[in-house]
Parts: sequence; structure tokens; C-alpha cells
Amino acid sequence: MNNYAYIRKLLFCLPPEVAHLLVLKVIKHNIWNFKKNSNYNLQQNIMGLEFKSPLGLAAGFDKDGDAFPGILDLGFGFIEFGTVTPIAQAGNPKPRLFRLTKSKAIINRMGFNNNGVVPLAKKLKHRTKNSILGVNVGKNKDTPLDCAVDDYLYCYRVIHNYADYVTINLSSPNTKGLRELQNDKYLSKILFSLKNMQSKLEQENGKYVPIAIKVAPDLSEYEVENISKLLLEYELDGVVATNTSIDRSCLRNTAHNYEQGGLSGEPIQGISTNVIKLLNNFLESKIPIIGVGGINSPESAKDKLNSGANLLQLYTGLIYNGVGVIDEILSAIDLSDLHYVIKENLNE
Ligand SMILES: Cc1cc2nc3c(=O)[nH]c(=O)nc-3n(C[C@H](O)[C@H](O)[C@H](O)COP(=O)(O)O)c2cc1C
Repeated sequence: MNNYAYIRKLLFCLPPEVAHLLVLKVIKHNIWNFKKNSNYNLQQNIMGLEFKSPLGLAAGFDKDGDAFPGILDLGFGFIEFGTVTPIAQAGNPKPRLFRLTKSKAIINRMGFNNNGVVPLAKKLKHRTKNSILGVNVGKNKDTPLDCAVDDYLYCYRVIHNYADYVTINLSSPNTKGLRELQNDKYLSKILFSLKNMQSKLEQENGKYVPIAIKVAPDLSEYEVENISKLLLEYELDGVVATNTSIDRSCLRNTAHNYEQGGLSGEPIQGISTNVIKLLNNFLESKIPIIGVGGINSPESAKDKLNSGANLLQLYTGLIYNGVGVIDEILSAIDLSDLHYVIKENLNE
């Protein structure tokens, strides 16, 4: 057993959410002195930002920046905080987080429990400039779908000075109706309004903050094609593929299989990579893809890169493999695994 296998055994004796809060505290204060070598020679300029390495921490792990600033020392090339919403909310009743240990998976129905976008902005004021920080934003539970755009605009404006990029979460299965925002009916209005706000704030603050949208792994080819058309039309800066899944067909028969919520980890590797392949095909390398879903090894990371991802993120892989997986993955990737995005060709 490696060191993390012992730590995981202890952590898995605790209820999942308790274990998670404990880990956030340990990371915040850098108790285990995680500082990692970051000399991987994997720098890339994506969305106009200089990424030291292509592997980031996915949204949901540190929603409110509770582990900030220690979290910057884990060895990731970038960190995505959030999802935060305009107003703080408690999320769904507990229990809402389940381990599917045999499948190396998690089901969560947290429901955007968070302290709101303003407290996160206050924390990130104290950031240093040498790491890329993204902020993932969502709509409040009680905001009707027709007004969701206002929640995204508000969050984007509040966080504009403190985030390097902003991800618009349209794909959590734990907020009723949220995934419908991926349909043309809502999506074009959301993208149009956000792009307007982006250029307005760029003029006001002298800072261009790229916008990505985060999509679900359960989309059909037709839906991915429609989303891609709108991303190209509105010249979005990036797409994060994917969020957690509502599909259970890829699961072994273990406890908690049928808990409601979003499935993450090894079982969604394939469906998430499939969405990346489709996006890559429809976007023709004109918009960067951040690939996420089941990455837990160099092979799974390379598979996402080979399918068209420009950057990577993970969450569940960290729970099952510990921070060692970051170095394992980054050591196995070389520059030839990375591709660059042809931004100039947009809308030609
Ligand atoms: C407990 C938990 C909470 C999550 N919360 C969020 C969230 O708030 N916003 C979001 O965009 N994604 C959230 N995610 C989804 C992850 O960011 C990621 O897209 C998904 O888990 C697939 O990656 P993975 O298999 O590496 O975990 C959450 C995932 C987990 C396991």
C-alpha cells in the first residue's frame, strides 16, 4: 500500500462530507507541505492565459475558496473555484455525497451549497498573480430559468477583477431545470448577454476575462452540434466538458448506485471523452476544450488530450488516488500531447 492508501482508508471511515471538510482544512494550512515541483515544461497559452501545466482542479472541490491559498501548492496548473451563486444557499439536505468505492466513483447531489459570489471575490482579492484561477458560477435554486441569465451576469461582474476566467455552469444535475439552459432557447440569450457584458467590463476595467461554458456528458450528438454552433457564433472562449452524469448504465452493482445526483469518476470516463470528441469535431479547434470526467491516470489523461482536450481537470481522481496522481499525470505528458487553438480563424 502506498502512503495515500493508508490515508484514504482513514478518510473513508468518515462520512464523505466530513472527510471532505477535513481535507480542505489540511490543504488550506498546507499541513503536509504539498509544495510540488512545477517544472514540467508544459506551458501553453490558452484563452489568452499562460498555463504552467495543462492539469487543473475541477469545480466543486473548493466551492468557496475555503482551502485558499494552500490549494495553490497542490501542483495543479490551474484551480477552478465554485460553483458560487449570487446569494448564499444551503444546498440539498444531507446526506448528499456518496462513495461508490468499487467503481472508483462518487454520486453527489450537493445542490450548489455555497456562501455566494461576494465572499469568494473578497478572498481572491488576496491572490498572487502567479497561478491561473477560474471561478465557476451558477444560478440560485429559486431563480426561474427565464431569469438565469441575470444570475450569471451578476456573478461575472462581481468576480471580474479577481478571476482569470469564468465558467458558466449549465450542466449540474442537482439544480432543477439547469441543464435546460443548454438548449438554444436559453443558450443564445445567455451567450449574447455575457459577451456584451464581457466587452463592457473590458472597457471599464481594462481586463479581458475569458468565458467558458460547462456542459453535461449526457448530451446527444445533435445537442452537442447545436451548442457548438452557438459557441462559434458568439465566439466563446472555452468549453468545459464535462460535468457529472445522470446515467447509471456504466456502473457496477454497488451500494448507492441508485442515489439521485451526478455521477463522477472512472465510470464516466468514456461518455465524457465522447462529448470531447464531438466538440472537437464541430468546433474544429477554434475554441479550447477543457476535458474533465474520470481522469485518474496518465492513460485517462492522454485519452482526453488525444480526443481534442487542450486542458484537463479532475476531482474524483484526487479522492481515490491522492495528490500523487497530479505528478504521475504531468510527468507522463509531453509537449507533443498538447495542441494549440487556432483562434484567428474564428467565424471565417
Ligand atoms: C462532490 C462534487 C461536487 C461537485 N460540484 C460541482 C460544482 O459545484 N460545479 C461544477 O461545475 N461541477 C461540480 N462537480 C463536477 C466536477 O467539477 C467534474 O466536472 C465532474 O466530477 C467530473 O470529473 P471527475 O470525474 O474528475 O470528478 C462536482 C463533482 C463532485 C464529485
